[in-house]
Amino acid sequence: MRPEIRSGRAPEWSGCGVRRGALRALTLLVASTALVLGACRQDMQDQPRIKPLAENDFFADGSGARPIPQGTVARGHLDADKALYTGRAADDSLLTELPFPLTRTVLERGQERFNIFCSPCHGRTGMGDGMVVRRGYKQPPSYHVDRLRMAPVGYFFFVMSNGFGVMPSYAAQIPVTDRWAIAAYVRTLQLSQHFDSSQLTPEERARLDAPPPAELGGEESSEH
Ligand code: HEC
Repeated sequence: MRPEIRSGRAPEWSGCGVRRGALRALTLLVASTALVLGACRQDMQDQPRIKPLAENDFFADGSGARPIPQGTVARGHLDADKALYTGRAADDSLLTELPFPLTRTVLERGQERFNIFCSPCHGRTGMGDGMVVRRGYKQPPSYHVDRLRMAPVGYFFFVMSNGFGVMPSYAAQIPVTDRWAIAAYVRTLQLSQHFDSSQLTPEERARLDAPPPAELGGEESSEH
């Protein structure tokens, strides 16, 4: 049942022949105008233009795409700080220190990023026994070999930024400052395996020997 009839009131347009005719005429007008305008648009669509990367004889080199002028710098990519972006000092030697101050926040960030990006192959302790390696990928050297322990911190930044052998570059995935944070954390891992414990104060020694806190599963693991 139609609601208008139930309410007892005739809908505004019903039975109005004149208005219906006017509406039809208007529809026709709009449709024909659209047709005419549509026909005009064809010309503009077909006008001569350069398609990106298509061949074109307008330029001497026959290419529609223009090469980027030499020295062009994309916005936000000046990368003028050589040490920060390349890991090398002015004389091109690899940096022996971070290009920014080392803080606990930096180290914690490095630990987190290392565990995400590097540990699948290098293992959480840097021994080179990550899951991917255990399933057949080439085994990387342990970070604890003398050669890598003696390598300047800039070397780790360099390897991450450029790749090394079968290891791909991580420059696209890991922002510059995070790569440095990871390099700092790798140094921490190295220190963790090669620290002369006779340098510790008695208090530090006692803290080191104490069982780990319960929230780290200390109770359980101290028994094994
Ligand atoms: C997909 C596995 C994989 C991941 C992920 C990975 N690496 Fe590697 N890495 C390797 C392999 C394999 C080698 C040895 C490459 C070779 O000798 O061909 C290597 C070598 C290295 C070396 C030693 C270079 C040398 O002089 O011997 C360093 C340092 C290193 N990686 C750091 C990192 C860091 C830092 C990360 C995290 C950002 C990382 N890698 C992520 C597989 C990986």
